[in-house]
Amino acid sequence: MDPLLELRNVSFSAAGKTIVSGASLSYSEGETVALVGPSGGGKSTVLKLTAGLLVPTAGEARYRGTDIAAMSRPQTMAFRRESAFVFQDSALWANQSIRQIMEIPLKTHFPEMEGPRRNEIIRALLSETGYRRDLDIRPAELSMGEQKLVGFARAMACDPSVLFLDEWTESLDEIAARRLVKLVFKRKETGKTVVFVSHNFSVIKELADRIVMIVDGRVSLSATREEFSRDANLAQYIEQGIAL
Ligand SMILES: Nc1ncnc2c1ncn2[C@@H]1O[C@H](COP(=O)(O)OP(=O)(O)O)[C@@H](O)[C@H]1O
Ligand SMILES: [Mg+2]
Repeated sequence: MDPLLELRNVSFSAAGKTIVSGASLSYSEGETVALVGPSGGGKSTVLKLTAGLLVPTAGEARYRGTDIAAMSRPQTMAFRRESAFVFQDSALWANQSIRQIMEIPLKTHFPEMEGPRRNEIIRALLSETGYRRDLDIRPAELSMGEQKLVGFARAMACDPSVLFLDEWTESLDEIAARRLVKLVFKRKETGKTVVFVSHNFSVIKELADRIVMIVDGRVSLSATREEFSRDANLAQYIEQGIAL
């Protein structure tokens, strides 16, 4: 059986610089994987390549056995609806209200949905993240932390079965971070596939079935929970790699 997601010997260059080289990785359905490693090592780039947000310069990124870059329009739309990305910098649209930002994925993927139902979903998603501000303001009025809550809620709008999370708890206070870890845990428990980048070893230990370390644009290590829980040296090595 094909893995749910796969990078086959993927490289990515931009502005004359090789950012990812020869990465091969695969993720099974229902698996939770943490991408770890030093800053600037290529974690965000690997995550975006896996999510189809960047196109490999060489190699293939696949979803359910299909090359993402070669998908038909309906296949791309289905992949977009089934997957969701939480950006490291939230990436909210500056000229849209929070309500409009939340509406976009629902209007795109469920055009038949009626306004009241859409509002109900939007309110529920924002409220579970702890968002307490108005819906008719724009992102510039929010703190970075509040923007992260909206970025997370927006990503969950279409109830994705694949979650890509790039440092989704960083820059949040302890309580908010805990809440967003719990929300991911809840989804993991219902069989969603989660690929996340984090520098927080306790979050990683709590959620990850497997850890993949990325250093200098290369996959330098892949270890399952069993492997790093029974091998103290490996756990220490990973923890040091994460802290960089
Ligand atoms: N589009 C791009 N053009 C040029 N350099 C980039 C681009 N995207 C990322 N980089 C560089 O590639 C390296 C890896 O970036 P990134 O994937 O964001 O690392 P990480 O998420 O591990 O911190 C960094 O040095 C970054 O500045
Ligand atoms: Mg990053």
